[in-house]
Amino acid sequence: MIRSVVQGCGAYLPERVVSNAELARTMDTSDEWIQQRTGIRQRHIAAEGEFTSHLAIKASQRALDQAGLKGSDLDLIVLCTATPDLTFPATATRVQAALGMTKGAAFDVQAVCAGFIYGLSVADSMIKSGLASTALVIGAETFSRILDWSDRGTSVLFGDGAGAVVLKAEQGEGTAHDRGILAHALHSDGRQHDILYVDGGPSSTRTTGLLRMEGKEVFKHAVVNMAAVVGEVLDKAGLTSKDIDWLVPHQANKRIIDGTGRKLGLPPERVVITVDRHANTSAASIPLALEVAVNDGRVKRGDLLLMEGIGGGLAWGASLVRW
Ligand code: UT7
Repeated sequence: MIRSVVQGCGAYLPERVVSNAELARTMDTSDEWIQQRTGIRQRHIAAEGEFTSHLAIKASQRALDQAGLKGSDLDLIVLCTATPDLTFPATATRVQAALGMTKGAAFDVQAVCAGFIYGLSVADSMIKSGLASTALVIGAETFSRILDWSDRGTSVLFGDGAGAVVLKAEQGEGTAHDRGILAHALHSDGRQHDILYVDGGPSSTRTTGLLRMEGKEVFKHAVVNMAAVVGEVLDKAGLTSKDIDWLVPHQANKRIIDGTGRKLGLPPERVVITVDRHANTSAASIPLALEVAVNDGRVKRGDLLLMEGIGGGLAWGASLVRW
């Protein structure tokens, strides 16, 4: 039975760090409010001329280095982003060219903050069906470019960054002890389209638009849907919350993450938190958190990781991975 096994991960954050205190100098907010409501202390912001593809290429190169592979070994790139360089072609093709990959396919997946889970499931399915054998899944975003900096309710919440994982097809026994991706659960609910969206696009306004969010509404859905989807993905794999070594969640708000951790009965030290340093980086937040926990030695080979995320659409999902 073919399994998609993670060979390496990498991340990249823009150099410029913007603290809550710095934001409070230009808008009516405070470090105290931001930390209490979200857990965010700072975010990284891309430089002028630094695009989503640039962040993605740097994160991908690091993931390939960790995997001991070259760009030319890849036959699939799935780039998860809601902030592409251009409307088309896919930003993934820029990454493909930069990495020296000339075979296979490179395309973008757009499921906003659930993007990495969606992208992982697409790449995993393509590997399992024999369409690809060595894949790069990237979450990369420059949300700073779609923020309304006059709206304190949204602009303090997001940051820029990229993270990537390399997957390789390997034979497994088909049990939950195999290394690799074990299960996914994906959902969307288009009835909630208008509680989190960008008010522009090529077809509707010919502009890029800015992010609009009814934060409280999204919060309520996030708590309920995250609690349900983590149970669903565990059931699919025939596992329980007691089997989880690490929760690696989408990093939108520490209060939402704490709620999911409590629902799973996980002690806080088993939950990877990076929202304090990175803020909400949408599709990049899960691989960014993953890279931190792998490279500081917390995540070890054979550990069971539960990843989950929710964002605009609404779209949400969860993946179980044996590291
Ligand atoms: O990744 C995609 C998924 N997104 C999410 O998961 C985000 C989900 N939502 C949230 O995380 C929270 O709803 C927020 C962090 C966005 C907001 O927290 P909240 O506890 O729901 O606050 P609120 O929006 O109800 O605002 C409370 C108060 C309001 O003032 P009044 O009306 O009570 O006087 C806001 O005007 O806080 C005010 N406020 C701020 N104050 C200082 C809103 N933004 C700020 C701010 N600084 N930046």
